[in-house]
Amino acid sequence: MARRKLIAGNWKMNGSLATLGELDGIRTAALAAPQVDVAVAVPATLIAPAAQLVPGLAIGAEDVHEADSGAHTGCISAGMVKEAGAIFTIVGHSERRGDQHETSHDAFMKSAAAHRHGLAVILCVGELEAERDAGRAERVVQAQIEKSLPDDAHADWLTLAYEPRWAIGTGRTPTMDEIAAMHAIARAKLRQMVGDTALDMRILYGGSVTGTNAAEILALDDVDGALVGGASLTAAKFVPIIEAAA
Ligand code: G3P
Repeated sequence: MARRKLIAGNWKMNGSLATLGELDGIRTAALAAPQVDVAVAVPATLIAPAAQLVPGLAIGAEDVHEADSGAHTGCISAGMVKEAGAIFTIVGHSERRGDQHETSHDAFMKSAAAHRHGLAVILCVGELEAERDAGRAERVVQAQIEKSLPDDAHADWLTLAYEPRWAIGTGRTPTMDEIAAMHAIARAKLRQMVGDTALDMRILYGGSVTGTNAAEILALDDVDGALVGGASLTAAKFVPIIEAAA
């Protein structure tokens, strides 16, 4: 089965009610490219207003807690973001792994929580620069997949995102050969773990994707879309990436 491209934005800790209007232009571009799936993960406070403002555009969360409810001050559950209007969530983003010391096991638990509540999941993996320099990138990514992928992961609800930490927000990207090689490795690992559903599972590339480099990256084997940070914050920057996938 041919895998549909997914272009997903991740607003991180950016955006406000005043900038939500950008989603309108993004939705217009999404409607003009029906062969591409488009989604935007926004800060938790913006999920409900975004879902109301742009019905039809897939709005998601950037993280969820692994528990359904309980004494976890300041945390937000999968059920809560679903109720607010999210249809998916990112988990295991390297900024969570770095800033919040989250582990692959945390990502595993969060993916399961999201799935319990009917959310699709974008599960992020990716090596640090020092790990790549030490020749350990492949092993790191394979181990992250092994420890964070839920046992019942299925292409219907889980998408993997390969985001080398050193390429995020830096304007630097791996070479096209390096991206293609890592996506092939990730696909092989997924296949080893979940069998043939891995052939239908999307693997996104993330890390300094722009309207300028998107077409080249998206043309690579096993690259099924992009997870975009900075360039997803405005329609002017995000729409060219959607168009490159169309
Ligand atoms: O999740 C997306 C991300 O980490 C990439 O960010 O700003 O390099 O596109 P950016």
